[in-house]
Amino acid sequence: MSIKAEEISALIKKQIENYQSEIEVNDVGTVIQVGDGIARVHGLDNVMAGELVEFSNGVMGLAQNLEQNNVGIVILGPFADIREGSEVRRTGRIMEVPVGDELIGRVVNPLGQPVDGLGPINAVKTRPIESPATGVMDRKSVHEPLQTGIKAIDALVPIGRGQRELIIGDRQTGKTSVAIDTILNQADQNMVCIYVAIGQKESTVRNAVETLRKHGALDYTIVVTASASQPAPLLFLAPYAGVTMGEEFMFNGRHVLVVYDDLSKQASAYRELSLLLRRPPGREAFPGDVFYLHSRLLERAAKLNDTLGAGSITALPFVETQAGDISAYIPTNVISITDGQIFLQSDLFFSGVRPAINAGLSVSRVGGSAQIKAMKKVAGTLRLDLASFRELEAFAQFGSDLDKATQAKLNRGARTVEVLKQDLNKPLKVEKQVAILYALTRGHLDEIPVSDIRRFEGEFHSWLDQNRQNLLDHIRTTGDLPKDEEMNSAVAEFKKTFVVSE
Ligand SMILES: Nc1ncnc2c1ncn2[C@@H]1O[C@H](COP(=O)(O)OP(=O)(O)OP(=O)(O)O)[C@@H](O)[C@H]1O
Ligand SMILES: [Mg+2]
Repeated sequence: MSIKAEEISALIKKQIENYQSEIEVNDVGTVIQVGDGIARVHGLDNVMAGELVEFSNGVMGLAQNLEQNNVGIVILGPFADIREGSEVRRTGRIMEVPVGDELIGRVVNPLGQPVDGLGPINAVKTRPIESPATGVMDRKSVHEPLQTGIKAIDALVPIGRGQRELIIGDRQTGKTSVAIDTILNQADQNMVCIYVAIGQKESTVRNAVETLRKHGALDYTIVVTASASQPAPLLFLAPYAGVTMGEEFMFNGRHVLVVYDDLSKQASAYRELSLLLRRPPGREAFPGDVFYLHSRLLERAAKLNDTLGAGSITALPFVETQAGDISAYIPTNVISITDGQIFLQSDLFFSGVRPAINAGLSVSRVGGSAQIKAMKKVAGTLRLDLASFRELEAFAQFGSDLDKATQAKLNRGARTVEVLKQDLNKPLKVEKQVAILYALTRGHLDEIPVSDIRRFEGEFHSWLDQNRQNLLDHIRTTGDLPKDEEMNSAVAEFKKTFVVSE
């Protein structure tokens, strides 16, 4: 073997070059200005966009604005003792959160640190919180149902695993309740749920966690919370942290439900942050990239193909509207990103229709293909019927003598509204939903007084449990309806035992 002199000299030259750049101090910068949770730092020439940096007091920061002479950094924690001249160190890492089974059952902040007082989380894996969404060839069409256990949703605007469905409505219209009930219903569905609470009161989050715990739902749920009292960067990061934790399960072939409650507050936090970073404001003072804020988040929901393990992330983003205005900036953005929306309306809510779903304005663009056959058969035209009932109802207030067909439509509509009402924290299994909707759509409820409908439903379900378990089993296992004669005779037989109240 001969030794090539030029090769060796090239190697030595390279070593010397590297040696020089090592002693160059570009991994430590100094703060030149600090305030409102934002620091401008000089000297971090090689910092990456989105890189984590460490301040001298141990607090972490996130490099956001890379400018010619300085870097704008958002501070992820208390910043009172960071001063002009303080040192800032690069970490060389893009921000990451811990992921894995260890997080299940825990309440964490957007950095993945526990906030439930149950001791440290010993997760071994981490994932970067910003990562590109799954490509189109790695996906498969949405085809399995995500049962929410809420009749009005499963029947009218069904959701499939891997779908993104927006839940939109004014404040106090039962949005959070929809999320919690959906999570409760996943108990035996082999799902991991992630509830991301953004900018909510600590007490509200605490109540939600208690409800989940009481119903045993915390055994398969992670709660990520950045409450209203936290600094804006944490609110901005929370949804990304949530979906990152979900991705770990999805890529292991599991099914995940992620709820973002709510993205309006994330957008406001991002606006605050952007304005402080002196980015130019646009419509409603949001920065120009607020669409990208939500699209890159929601695109990470996916149904993976079989080679990748067929896992899924279903996303339920929430948006709060002002006075029912769904054409404002953030609502229209998110509506255009998602595969449908569920619109909760406050006047329905106050008139006692709960969940207050507006059937006319709610759609699900892909969920229909994920519905089980039996549900399709009983609920096929229900959404349109209900929407036309609402119109007819408004119109019928003017006239007294209506023709028979109209009268029948109004009768059926009133009973449909009644059947779709549902109490809090009482998710209903799909076979029972099908049973009562069957009775409704085949006209068995038409002569039951409207005020008795909900009692009828409850008693009918317990009667089925005792007398016709086979019908329920049939729907659950085959996904299809039993024979019409069997269903009709079951309803008829139950009706003989039902006492109409005076
Ligand atoms: N189906 C229901 N039946 C009865 N009460 C309900 C139902 N859904 C929600 N509520 C009640 O309505 C109130 C508001 O619900 P919730 O907190 O879910 O609304 P929200 O839209 O998330 O409110 P916020 O805007 O404050 O976040 C709660 O007190 C809840 O108990
Ligand atoms: Mg809420």
